[in-house]
Amino acid sequence: MKPIIEFINVSVILDTFSNVKALDLKELIVKSGENAAILGPNGSGKSTFMRLITRELYPEPEEGSVCRIWGEERWNVFQLRSLLGIVTPYMAFKVNQNITVEDTVLSGFFSSIGIPHRDYVTREMRKKSERNMDFLGILPLKGRFVTEVSTGEARLALIARALAHDPKALVLDEPTSGLDIKAALNFREYLRKLSKHGTNVIIVTHDLEDIIPEVSRVVLLDKGSVFKDGPIEQVLTDANLSKLYSSPLKVVKGKHGYRAEFE
Ligand SMILES: Nc1ncnc2c1ncn2[C@@H]1O[C@H](COP(=O)(O)OP(=O)(O)OP(=O)(O)O)[C@@H](O)[C@H]1O
Ligand SMILES: [Mg+2]
Repeated sequence: MKPIIEFINVSVILDTFSNVKALDLKELIVKSGENAAILGPNGSGKSTFMRLITRELYPEPEEGSVCRIWGEERWNVFQLRSLLGIVTPYMAFKVNQNITVEDTVLSGFFSSIGIPHRDYVTREMRKKSERNMDFLGILPLKGRFVTEVSTGEARLALIARALAHDPKALVLDEPTSGLDIKAALNFREYLRKLSKHGTNVIIVTHDLEDIIPEVSRVVLLDKGSVFKDGPIEQVLTDANLSKLYSSPLKVVKGKHGYRAEFE
């Protein structure tokens, strides 16, 4: 099976005025079957990395640069989006239109923002969307406009939307930010279930609690480059986090996962 992500000598410049590289990766490969968490301070390039995966962005054309998803350099965006379940904060802006929570979730079947045509929506699509909304606790909101629900509820709608196609991999940028304690716990439980059933998870987060036990690999980003990359026990150490965040930090392993504390 080809790797999910194969990024070699990949760089992205977002600010063409300063030409500073928002991302500059020598090598970052995530194999199929591997679950990875990406951590890093604000501005370290995490969302830029995500947007490369989802093909919202393309890297600078450079010799020897490889930027493949499942072995392909070029993707039909619709095809890619039916294989990847994507949740990014950018999507929240995009769906911020007058559409209902239910239509937001259903739109995942069409990789579109709204529903292209009512007739395309099948009974199975509706049933599956309802099941996902129910699990995430937003079924009672299905008739509400996304502009009339809370931030966390809108986020849950996007998560339900990402699950439409039973994606091979889920790519999540800060999925639990804005969720309440129960919704975040539910979401992590659901993520665990999905990953146990073979869905690959790539998760960008600030919250160590999001690193579910099925994640074995951690990548620390700093100023657009990989600072550390490897097995969780080797990467998620007091010394590495303290250096990355320039603060004396301690990693505490609890019953359900990790958290960081000041020393
Ligand atoms: N549209 C843009 N134009 C210019 N520079 C940008 C743009 N978007 C992001 N950047 C810069 O690119 C770098 C990486 O940003 P990115 O959004 O990937 O960071 P991040 O790790 O996701 O941060 P956060 O934790 O705050 O979400 C930052 O230095 C940021 O200022
Ligand atoms: Mg970000």
